[in-house]
Amino acid sequence: MRRIADRFLVRAPSNIALVKYMGKTDSVLNLPENGSISMTLEDLCTYAEIQVVPEIQGKDGKPAIGFCSWVPEAPAGAPPLSRVPRLDSAGLEKVIRHMERVRGAAPDLLESFGLDPGGLGSGRDRFILRSANTFPQSSGIASSASSFAAITLATAWACGGDPEDFRKVYTKNPEFPRALAELSRRGSGSSCRSFEGPWVAWEGGRARAIDATLPPLRHLVLVVSESTKRVSSSEAHLRIKGSPLWRGRVDRAETRKRALSEALLQGDLRMVAKLAWSEAWEMHSLFHTAEKPFSYWEPATLDLLQGFAGIFEADEAELPILTLDAGPNIHLICPADQAEPWKSRINANFKGISVLEDRPGIGARLISAVQEAQVGWP
Ligand code: PMV
Repeated sequence: MRRIADRFLVRAPSNIALVKYMGKTDSVLNLPENGSISMTLEDLCTYAEIQVVPEIQGKDGKPAIGFCSWVPEAPAGAPPLSRVPRLDSAGLEKVIRHMERVRGAAPDLLESFGLDPGGLGSGRDRFILRSANTFPQSSGIASSASSFAAITLATAWACGGDPEDFRKVYTKNPEFPRALAELSRRGSGSSCRSFEGPWVAWEGGRARAIDATLPPLRHLVLVVSESTKRVSSSEAHLRIKGSPLWRGRVDRAETRKRALSEALLQGDLRMVAKLAWSEAWEMHSLFHTAEKPFSYWEPATLDLLQGFAGIFEADEAELPILTLDAGPNIHLICPADQAEPWKSRINANFKGISVLEDRPGIGARLISAVQEAQVGWP
């Protein structure tokens, strides 16, 4: 087949849950104990590129099927300040296994959406991944969600025939990104919420956008620390089940999830803020009370939380939407016209906190599929 493209570049945003995915019923398929709801971001994202190098033979002379590798370089099209993720051997193995999983599933998946399954990157070719994040890794900004969504999308795109056919189906048929989201979930559960936006509910095996009636919003990440987290989220999913607070957690999360969808639909920001506040405390309380307890908090996390608790106590209506992921940083969501006042207030009251700003987004998207004049080994 004529080679149309050999470099496939995509970007996928992070997403921040207000009702959290914490605890799995199936750790192979990454199925959640309870439903979750998140907001998809826009600029805090991962750029991933697959370079396809053709016709690699295995040692036995047969095609080396599913041959995937990672190069610690940013893709050429990523913004200049993006950071290449640091991967230890377990992280690398997880990524490679996921690329192979996507390559294995791609032929049937593409065919089921009327796309050429015997595409350019099928079977014999080597896939080389480059990726970079626009935000610090492993510090509670859900880099695994954006990374796995981007890797899934880029790998699937590289498996197809004509990249423009793939683009048409991806942009016109919402069931296609949803099917890719299901595949992505196998790599990292929360990544399945990064394919749509701005508000996404994940229930069992399926994640899909839900309706909300809200004013334009801004998302501020109050960065307390950029250091790598000590307990991985995979470990957290297991350990929390040993907490005495685990009992009743699934029912409480489901009740909160129903209340949150209703509040989003009604545009009741105050209720959204109240629900997000209790959910964030509940998830971190599960961490703090696990049989083998752990904490992601830094002293500055607690300072900020105490500051916000004071605001909450003085005037409930003033509380912005606040949450924490599995990390020390605090996420603040507010109407767009309140972002500047919040930034000034935080700067004035807390030292050493940097603020990243983003807004609600629409999910993972395709950027470019190009052919290089000469494809070589990196
Ligand atoms: O997708 P995982 O396995 O990295 O789990 C992440 C879970 C949290 O980010 C802590 C919460 C959530 O719902 O995103």
